Parts: sequence; C-alpha cells; structure tokens
Amino acid sequence: MLHSWVLFLYIGFIEVVCGEVESQVSFNVNNVDYDPYEKAVNILSDKIRYDDEIDYYSKKNISGIDITIPVDYSEDEQEFRYKKFWKSEATTWQKEAIGYLTISSDKFNNTAATLLLAQIHLWGEYGYPNNKTLAYSYLNKYNEMIGFTDGEALFDLAVMLSTGLFGAIPIDIGKSLLYYQQAASLGNMKAKQALAYRYANGLNVPRDCNMALLLYRELSDEVRSKYSDYEWNVALPYMETYNIRIPDFQGGLLGEGLSSTHSSTTRKDSVRPDITSSLLTQMNGGQIVLQFGIGAKDYAADGESDDSNDKLVDLYYTAWDLYKGTYERNRDVESARTILELAIEVYSSSEPYMDNLQIYFFGKCYYLLGHIYFTGEGISKPDIERAQLLLQKSIDIVENVSAVKSKANIDMGLINQFIKNDTSKAIKYYRNVLEENVNDGTADYQLSKLSSEKPELNLGDPFVLMQTAYRRSHIAGTYEYAKMIEESVNNYYSCEDTSFLFKRFLEMNEVIVAPQLRIAFSELLKGNTEVALWAYAQAAEQGFEAAQISAAYLLYQDAYLMEEVPETTDERKSMAISYYNRAFKQNNIDAAIIAGNIFYNMKDYSKAIAMYQSASLRFAPQAIWNLGYMYEHGLGVGVDYKMAHDYYNQVLDHNPELFFAVKLTVMKLTLKSWISWLSGEPVSFWNQDKEEIDGVSIISQEEQMLSQMSIFRRFKYSVEQALLENSGHHAYPTPLTEKQINDKQQEKKKKDEKNDPTDTGWVEKFIMKIDELGLSLEDVLSIMFMAMILLVTMIIRPLIIRAGWNVRINGIVIRGNAEANGEQEQPQEVQPANIDIQFFAI
Ligand SMILES: *[C@@H]1O[C@H](CO)[C@@H](O)[C@H](O)[C@H]1NC(C)=O
Ligand SMILES: *[C@@H]1O[C@H](CO)[C@@H](O)[C@H](O)[C@H]1NC(C)=O
Ligand SMILES: *[C@@H]1O[C@H](CO)[C@@H](O)[C@H](O)[C@H]1NC(C)=O
Ligand SMILES: *[C@@H]1O[C@H](CO)[C@@H](O)[C@H](O)[C@H]1NC(C)=O
Ligand SMILES: *[C@@H]1O[C@H](CO)[C@@H](O)[C@H](O)[C@H]1NC(C)=O
Repeated sequence: MLHSWVLFLYIGFIEVVCGEVESQVSFNVNNVDYDPYEKAVNILSDKIRYDDEIDYYSKKNISGIDITIPVDYSEDEQEFRYKKFWKSEATTWQKEAIGYLTISSDKFNNTAATLLLAQIHLWGEYGYPNNKTLAYSYLNKYNEMIGFTDGEALFDLAVMLSTGLFGAIPIDIGKSLLYYQQAASLGNMKAKQALAYRYANGLNVPRDCNMALLLYRELSDEVRSKYSDYEWNVALPYMETYNIRIPDFQGGLLGEGLSSTHSSTTRKDSVRPDITSSLLTQMNGGQIVLQFGIGAKDYAADGESDDSNDKLVDLYYTAWDLYKGTYERNRDVESARTILELAIEVYSSSEPYMDNLQIYFFGKCYYLLGHIYFTGEGISKPDIERAQLLLQKSIDIVENVSAVKSKANIDMGLINQFIKNDTSKAIKYYRNVLEENVNDGTADYQLSKLSSEKPELNLGDPFVLMQTAYRRSHIAGTYEYAKMIEESVNNYYSCEDTSFLFKRFLEMNEVIVAPQLRIAFSELLKGNTEVALWAYAQAAEQGFEAAQISAAYLLYQDAYLMEEVPETTDERKSMAISYYNRAFKQNNIDAAIIAGNIFYNMKDYSKAIAMYQSASLRFAPQAIWNLGYMYEHGLGVGVDYKMAHDYYNQVLDHNPELFFAVKLTVMKLTLKSWISWLSGEPVSFWNQDKEEIDGVSIISQEEQMLSQMSIFRRFKYSVEQALLENSGHHAYPTPLTEKQINDKQQEKKKKDEKNDPTDTGWVEKFIMKIDELGLSLEDVLSIMFMAMILLVTMIIRPLIIRAGWNVRINGIVIRGNAEANGEQEQPQEVQPANIDIQFFAI
C-alpha cells in the first residue's frame, strides 16, 4: 500500500513540473511567426538519429547478450517514465528540437516536420522516448495532409489501427484494411505482404488463396529482380537474419526440453564442442573424448600446454563467428580472413602430425578462407585462382582421412561451372556432396538447372532436385521450386502450396522485406521494449511466425511455477492471445498452450480448454497435461478424475521421458479420489484456500501491493549458459501455478453445492493443520512420495547391482557386476530387466 501512495504523490509532483516545461515551449509558440522547421533540422543534423546497438556490442568487445524485458506493463508507469524523461533526462537540444518541430507541425502544417515527429515518437529516434498516442496523431495528420499517397506511412498507419497500438488507440480493422489496400496499390511491399497473409488465412477478410498467391508471387518477382544474375546463379549474398523468437534464447516458449518448436536462434556464438562433436566421434570410432577449453579466449595465456587441438578448433570457430556474424556481433569478414590466414600459416608445418580431429578443422579453415576468396567479401574483389587452390586443399586433406565431405566441393563446382566453363567437372563436385550434410541445397539447385537445360546428361529429375534444394532452404531454389509448382510441372498444383512457398521465399529475404527485424533486436538490446514491440508488430502483420511470437512474448510472458502472473492491460492480453493464436495457425504448437494459459490466468476456463484441446489434437504433451489438470480441478468442466487420469496417461504416449512425473501425478490423483470418497465429499475440496478458511483475503491484498511494483525478468545469454543448456536436463512440467487454483467464484459455487457446510470432517481438519504450516496437501503428498521413492531406490540399488541388471537413474548407467564376473553368456535375458529411473525436481 505504501508503494502505491509514494508513486501517486510522485506523479502528481512531476505533473506540476512538466506543466512548466510545456508552458515554456508554448511561450515560444506565441512569439514565432515563421516556420521553425529548418531550425529543428539544424539542431538535429549532427545528432545520431538511430544508434545500432548491435554495432555497439561489437565495438566495445562485449560478449554475451543481455536482454531485460519487463514482465509487467501499466499505463501509469509508462506515463511516469515519459514525464521523468522530460523532467530530468532530456538534453537542451532535445527539448529545443522537439519544440520547434511541434510548432512547425501544429502551427504551420509542415508535412516534413509532422512525419519526423511521428517517426521520433514511434521509433524513439534521436534518443526520444516512445509515445504511441503522439506518434499516431502525427502520423494520421501526415497521411491526411499528403492525401494518403505515401505507401510506407500508410502501412504504418494500418498497423497502428489493426493493433490499436496495444491499447493506445481504438482498433479499427476496417480502416486498417483500407490503408493496407491503398499502400499496396502504391507499391508498398510490406503492405502487400500483410494483405497476402490476411487473404491466405482469412484474417478479417474472406479467405482467398488466389488473391494471396497473386500478391505473394508479385512480391517474390520483385525480390528476385533485386538480385543480379551472378548473385542468383552463382553466389547468393550472405543474409544476416534476425528472424528470431525471443523466448528461444531461453529454451523456447515452454522452456528447455518441453518446447516442441525448433529454435530460431541460429546465429549464436559458436559453443566450442558444437553439434559437430557427434560427427567427430563418428569419425574416430566413438573413442575420442573432446576436451575443449571453456574459457576459450585465453588460449594465448597458457601457451605451453599440449592443447593445440583446442587452439586450432578455437581459431576456426572464432573466424566462423566473425564470418557469419552473431546476434551480438556484426559480420567482419576481413578479420575472419586474417585469422584464417594466420591459422594456416602457423599450422601447415605440423599438418603431417595432426590427428583426425585437427585435420578436420584444418580442412574447414582452408574451406572458409577459400570461400572468402571466391566471394571476394572483405577483399577488394574475388581471387578465383587462390580460392581454387585453397578449396582443393580443403577437399584433399579432409577427404583423405575420412569419409566426411568438405563443403569446398560446392564452391569448386560453381567455379568449374561458371568460371572455368567445365560442366562435367562441376557435376562431379556437386554429386560428391549431394547426400551430405554440408550441402546447403546449392548442389541440388545447380544440378536441377543443368538437368532441365541438358536433359541428355541424365542428372535426375529437375523437379525432385529442386524440391530437395527447397527442403535444404536454398533461397533461389525455393523461388524456382515455387515457380515449378505454379506451372504444375509433374502435374501437381495447389494454390495453398504455391502461395506458401512464395511466402517462405519472401521470409528468407527478410533483409529486403523486413529490415526492421534487425532494428527490433537492436532495440531489445538497448532495453527499448516498446519500440522493439512496434517493429515486431509490423513483421507480425507481414506474417512472420517468429515475429508473432516475439511480439506476443513482449506483451505477455507466460509465468512459470512460483512466478507472478504478469500484470498488464486487457488490450495487451488479448493482442498477445491473438498473436499466439496466429503463430499456432502457422504450426507453432507451443503458442496454443501459452494462449490457453493466458485465458486460464484471465479465468476464462472454457476458452483455455478450447486452446489446450486444439493443441492436444497436434499431440502437444503439455496441452494434454493441462487438460488433465483442468478435469482434476474442475476448471471450466466438472471434476472428473477419470478424464484427468486418462489425459495424464496420454502424456506418456507422446513423451515417455515424463514417465516418472506422470506416474506421480496419477498416483496423487488416485489418492485424491480415495480421500474424497473417504470424506464423503463427491466434489473436490481441493480448491479451498486460506481465503475461505480465514475469511480474510490476505493473498489478494498482497497481490495488490505487488502490482504496484514492476517486476523484471532478466535473462542473460552467455556461452556458459549455452553449455548448460546443452547438458539437457528435464524439468517437471509446470502447467499452472498453485496459487492460481484459488478462484473465488469456483469456491462460492462449491460452497453452495455443499449440503452441510458446518460439518468439517477429519480430513479437512488435517488439511487446515497443514495449511497453518504453510503447506498445501499436494506438497505433503509429493514429499511423502519422494521420500518413499528414495527409500525404495536405496533398497533396490544394491539389489540391482547384485542381480546385474542394467539400470539407469537419470540417464546414468549403474552397471551390475555381471560384466565384472565375466558372465556374458546370457545377454538376451539381461535386456528385459533394464530399468530406467528418472527423478524430477518438483
Ligand atoms: C577489442 O578486442 C580486440 C582484440 O581482442 C582489440 O584489438 C580491440 O582494441 C578491442 N577493442 C576495444 C574497444 O576494447
Ligand atoms: C504521450 O504524450 C502525451 C502528451 O505529452 C502525454 O500526455 C502522455 O502521457 C504520453 N503517453 C505516454 C504513454 O507516455
Ligand atoms: C492546418 O491544417 C488544418 C487542417 O487541415 C487547418 O484547419 C489549418 O487552418 C491549417 N493551418 C495553416 C496555418 O495552414
Ligand atoms: C593422404 O594420406 C596419405 C596416407 O594416408 C598420405 O601419404 C598423403 O600425403 C595424404 N595426402 C594429402 C593431400 O594429405
Ligand atoms: C563453354 O563451353 C561450351 C562448350 O563446352 C561452349 O560452347 C561455350 O561457348 C563456352 N562458353 C564460354 C563462355 O567459354
């Protein structure tokens, strides 16, 4: 309570001060009889309009991403911050410039000033704070002034009206559609994409696949025309993608191990024992134990130790990260090249003594350097001769020691096909890697094209080859494959498939169609969550599934066990639900569960159940689990232990790893129905809480107090954490927090249903006793079961060892002594006795 008072008084105080600032500006207004736009432009001319935080990270040698996302949102707090900025943080030039611009727009109807004001308030340019209502009013004014002829400004306005800027202005779908149409007819690409997405999904417009296809195809052709023929056919430019789902930095929407959607964060810093380690072990017959230095950066310090393995591998990965650019570091091909040249110079003398692992990475160094010379990035122009030497060397040394193929085959193929004019040699190189992981689709793409040009070469079905190129996410391949489907090559045509393929192609070209995704990420790093939200909202309208998740996540982060449910406005909640729902329709199953959880937290249980049911039809274990929970506790449905039981058991079919957690819950459930039978209480009394027993609502008071303070969830991504993430431990599914069970309405209903409310049975007395101790009965039961299981395992373990069974506890094998005794004659009989025990932290 104290907090709220302090905050309230503080706001009142600021308001007075702010009023003075504003009156200073308006004092100027009366004196000005000319348009001060030029003055404002002069002030701003030497200021930084947009600060790219990603660049900042690289320059300051900061490693690791540090993103802070506020969990709660309140208008009051936003306004408080806004006023605080103008009171104490704004510089003199900021105040002056905005004053002049405001006069220029308000008094002199200056279009340029009006647009600039809209952008300043929308994107937080020049370090101004985001203010959605002002942004909308200036953007609307600008559009009216110029008669709705600026496609980009119209698109922005349409996005504003379709999202309502998350509560800042009223949503107006009709107007927004009108503006999308108008912007599209002016040739705005984003608006076309947004419209296509709406037609494809029947979102506020009648579903019309042909319309969607028309728009998607038109856009794709436009994007295609931005590539030169050399780029398109030979060397596609490298794309730095920021098309990410924010929660993927933390293991996905549902958390590590439970999210069913593939991670979108593909450009993290390389963790040294990479995915390639499985490849390496295969190479060396599974014998090698990789010991990479975790503190990778200090390899120079302990120079003498014989971990030259680490050094070479580390050099390669350092160069690779510089080459590809990571989320916290811009690409720096020149530095990558320098490092690779150095690595090759230092290590070539020891090449004859290298083991397979070193040779493998040495070959990769040669490939990457060759590739850089081939593309000519980071140097003035391509050096094909040098590239060829390096690439051939890579192939020689890698393929000499193992069956693994070098990616250099692809570049060698391209060089031979397009520069040396030696098609047959090129085909040999392509075929070399056709079935390999290193093939990024280029080999299939080129072979497909060659095959349609020269069918006499018998290179295979061009359609099938192009399809594989698309499946390997080859950009040009995706476009050509979409074209093939559209022309019904192979007698196959589907409007949905074709428009989906063009949509995929467009999203691969995010640099062209959605450059704001990079800005969104940069704003996240700066902590400007609201600006990031705006940028993600644009991309979400364009139909980017990842952006829909990111926008939804910024609006509403699902609470995990023991966490507070976010405090935010209803507009934001419903927008979050809408985004999660759209992402679900684009096959993100996790999103449906989160949408269900938001409904659950809003106590809209029937809608929550509907969401869980949609997700359970796609076999999402968590959704099935939650359904079980709803039936167990009678939320939105009648209490039905049998249904609950069935749902919990179903989880096992889809995720056997949850065996123990499920069994425990089912046992608890059995016990529960047993107790409820004993106490002669047909309906669950489980939902009773302190509020009812004491007759005082302690919890809600606490909640009120908490809601006055903003809670921040802070997460830091670093290499160490990535290593931890890779260690892959499981968590108990956390469908809903214990506290949330307490639902007043539910209780009241139950109270009425009770025949004899005064008669408290011994069971309820027992529960009250536990409650006084600050425990819930479920906790007590859990503890009892855990203790029991521990005891049992303590007894069983020596038994196992004596019997020689193969038992795994949490994945760690406890070997019986059969092996030691040399009794290996009956392995077949040992097999069925395998036991897998898993413990879960609850
Ligand atoms: C960043 O690191 C590089 C190499 O470690 C060094 O040369 C450079 O001076 C550093 N830059 C800053 C701003 O510290
Ligand atoms: C936006 O600016 C207006 C006018 O200065 C102000 O009244 C409002 O509180 C601001 N909105 C926010 C969210 O800060
Ligand atoms: C600015 O535009 C508004 C609305 O279009 C109009 O009412 C006003 O007279 C204009 N002011 C000037 C100075 O042209
Ligand atoms: C390939 O391996 C053989 C021995 O296995 C060796 O003699 C030869 O020099 C190697 N070639 C290259 C290019 O490394
Ligand atoms: C490439 O070789 C073919 C014959 O193999 C020839 O017809 C063609 O003119 C050559 N093209 C160039 C650019 O040298």
